[in-house]
Amino acid sequence: MKILSGIQPSGQLHIGNYFGMMQTMISRMEDSELYVFIVDLHALTSVRERARLAQGTLEAAADFLALGLDPDKCIFWVQSDVPEVCELTWILSTLTPMGLIERCHSYKDKVAKGIAASHGLFSYPVLMAADILLYQAEQVPVGKDQKQHLEVARDLSQKFNNEYGQTFVVPEPAISTQTATVPGLDGQKMSKSYGNTIPIFLEGKQLKKTVMAIKTDATPVENPKDPDNCNLFTIMELFALPSRMKEIRDLYVNGGAAYGYLKLELLDLLNDKFGDARRKKAEFLADPEMLRAILAKGAEKAREKAVVTLDLVRDRVGLKY
Ligand code: ADP
Ligand code: TRP
Repeated sequence: MKILSGIQPSGQLHIGNYFGMMQTMISRMEDSELYVFIVDLHALTSVRERARLAQGTLEAAADFLALGLDPDKCIFWVQSDVPEVCELTWILSTLTPMGLIERCHSYKDKVAKGIAASHGLFSYPVLMAADILLYQAEQVPVGKDQKQHLEVARDLSQKFNNEYGQTFVVPEPAISTQTATVPGLDGQKMSKSYGNTIPIFLEGKQLKKTVMAIKTDATPVENPKDPDNCNLFTIMELFALPSRMKEIRDLYVNGGAAYGYLKLELLDLLNDKFGDARRKKAEFLADPEMLRAILAKGAEKAREKAVVTLDLVRDRVGLKY
């Protein structure tokens, strides 16, 4: 099975990214042909400071490696290091109906959040389709927010195949139901752009302050509460053992759940889960040349795959004369 997914180096990665995508990718190293990449060309649609993009790319690479991604068991690279993706984007964009992209809500959402309304931001889903189709990915693990983009990739692969003959695999989204949307501190979807995240690599006092800021209601400790409508409970479920969650559920339902204590318990769980990765990340970042070498080797492997597809596409559409 060919599995592919990418992440933007546009800010600190958070536990929504971890459960929505990174964890799944890392867990599939042994049993699949895995493609993991950092989508710096996509990030250009929102990051305009050179240093922030360049440093963010190295940091995202360090994050993945620190969390356990083994570059010898997958293809791990930076999107812009395989320029073939831009040519495929153009070719796909010539058969992308305007309506298909106009219907994508992420463009409008991002503009509403203050990101400049550029042509790149608008055609973001076509570049993402090219990412997926160039490597003939069969499965794409993402959070629920990317479902519509996956549909664009599927539509474009089918349209191309219908018009020019069988060329692309039609990719399937892989969205795990439990982690489709991890809630943020305020209960909305956790997202870098909402400022409501728990960053994976935050630690010490800052992490404590962040966990304590998880919004909960003012129901007194002894009163019953609804665990299914509490973002603290939903976040804890991602970390605690099922047996402990059963006890906590009982405290919610019967009274006795103290939010402050539960938050401290969550803090311990976060430290246990990510403590090692934090130390490893610091080691990787201390050696940027090694990171660059890992990414360069990954780009070489990715490019070998990319040129095969692009060569076929060029032939199919008549760019080979
Ligand atoms: P953000 O919304 O913070 O900018 P990205 O758009 O860079 O995150 O998302 C990177 C990956 O992480 C995507 O696969 C996305 O679906 C997933 N993801 C992001 N936020 C969440 C979340 N709150 N819950 C589940 N998955 C998420
Ligand atoms: N659009 C995705 C996001 O914002 C990132 C992305 C770019 C991606 N290309 C991809 C995800 C290809 C999966 C496959 O999170």
